[in-house]
Amino acid sequence: MAFSFSVETTKVTDQPLIEHLLDIAFGIDRRVKTSYRLREGSQPAEGLSLVVRDTDVSVAGSISFWPLTIGPAGAPALLLGPLVVHPERQNIGVGLALMQEGLARAKARGHGFVILVGDAPYYARVGFQRLPEGQLILPGPVDPDRFLYVELLQGALAEAQGLVLPPHRFAEISARDLMPLAVPHQAERQKQSAESQ
Ligand SMILES: CC(C)(COP(=O)(O)OP(=O)(O)OC[C@H]1O[C@@H](n2cnc3c(N)ncnc32)[C@H](O)[C@@H]1OP(=O)(O)O)[C@@H](O)C(=O)NCCC(=O)NCCS
Repeated sequence: MAFSFSVETTKVTDQPLIEHLLDIAFGIDRRVKTSYRLREGSQPAEGLSLVVRDTDVSVAGSISFWPLTIGPAGAPALLLGPLVVHPERQNIGVGLALMQEGLARAKARGHGFVILVGDAPYYARVGFQRLPEGQLILPGPVDPDRFLYVELLQGALAEAQGLVLPPHRFAEISARDLMPLAVPHQAERQKQSAESQ
């Protein structure tokens, strides 16, 4: 029997079902992966968590995209993942439909490019290709053959170089970098205060 489906925006009530599906597909140790570090403490990008609901298996598939900040310039990008399709609903186009809809919505919202860690032959179906080695650095180990990108705006990748972080980590690290600059100012103030006493 043909299975017809539609891709919709994820609701809070879908989340426990999606987590269960992710545990089935990737195992409960999935959270130690480098791509999870890029999502820790973040929320998915606005309007870019999608689901295919199904009365028989609850959730047939799900995808989400996460905001990233790259390098000293703080270039923006998205992380795709996780993408998951229920074992009983695979190979009927659910994964492809989730990716196509997600990328179309991301482009409509003005995002420049998307990265992911995954199987290149599958993600090539929507244009993902291997990143130039060394251009982007992840905060953990990654197989370069599985570190992929697709541009939504031509030339967007060229703006990005360096360490890839969730936006809140970038903000913390930037603040820490500014600390040494603040210390001489404080020392200078103390010196001035001592001289005036
Ligand atoms: C990978 C996954 C998202 C694909 O979703 P799906 O809805 O079954 O895929 P689609 O129906 O859109 O596409 C099916 C096609 O992709 C191919 N395909 C599926 N997974 C693939 C993979 N990991 N690598 C290469 N090709 C793959 C299928 O062989 C099929 O090919 P065909 O069209 O030539 O017959 C889904 O199988 C899944 O959630 N798997 C568990 C998690 C996983 O293994 N992830 C690995 C990818 S990072």
